[in-house]
Amino acid sequence: MTNHQSLANKPIGVFDSGAGGLTVVSQIFRHLPSEQVIYFGDMGRTPYGIRSAEVIKSFSRQNVNFLLEQDVKFIVVACNSASALALDYILQIFNIPMMGVIEPGSRAAASGTKNGRIGVIGTEATIGSLSYTKALLKIDPKLEVFSMACPLFVSLAENGYIGKKAAYLIAEDYLGYLKEKKIDTLVLGCTHYPPLKGVIGKVMGDDVRLIDSAEETAKTIGQMLAELNLANSNPAAGAHKFYVSDTPEKLKEISKYFVESPVEEVARIDINSY
Ligand code: DGL
Repeated sequence: MTNHQSLANKPIGVFDSGAGGLTVVSQIFRHLPSEQVIYFGDMGRTPYGIRSAEVIKSFSRQNVNFLLEQDVKFIVVACNSASALALDYILQIFNIPMMGVIEPGSRAAASGTKNGRIGVIGTEATIGSLSYTKALLKIDPKLEVFSMACPLFVSLAENGYIGKKAAYLIAEDYLGYLKEKKIDTLVLGCTHYPPLKGVIGKVMGDDVRLIDSAEETAKTIGQMLAELNLANSNPAAGAHKFYVSDTPEKLKEISKYFVESPVEEVARIDINSY
């Protein structure tokens, strides 16, 4: 086996502030079945979306250190808040290819809109960073972008509080502004929102297309791995591994909201030691 092949056979590292990044993992399983995934969900320090850029950068640095110890070949920042506020920083300090979820999600939205009016929802950190707005306007300066932070959606998804009356009331309250703006495309700019697609879709109406960046992210990972000659050509990928910074049971319990088959084996690590 050449050096190059052995590098390509290594796993992809994925991190998120909690369970939501499993939406990206599920799309990696679907689009890149030959790749092995090492997932880290920072359940002990979630949520990231209410924290400052400095804290999100420092957490992200530790998460990358942990994944590097697992000998990964490529890192996916599946958390929108960390992609928005820490990706540039970790790209500067580490020498490993990495990507976030903002650009793939923006590309999918820009290519899907017909009227050029795009809504973006996410955590306070992601929306406050204007990362999606900047990424969308870079693709097409004529687009009109309207954003709204929806922090309570994270708790609704983490608690499986989906499809209940309270979820609709909260969604109506948050999304009223975006409905008024007559958007035709809405980016779900947070890993925790895809489980709420049904509620968000009903509130926004059939004419608004929802963009889940997870699928576009998985496709972009595939392209980047191919460009970097890092795609695993060995169809028998090693076993996927899941790690958290708090009790493993919580990830096992809520994984069903984010991936098709629940995650069964999860180990706890001490992220503060990285
Ligand atoms: N993973 C975070 C994101 O995509 C959502 C949850 C959090 O606030 O940590 O922004």
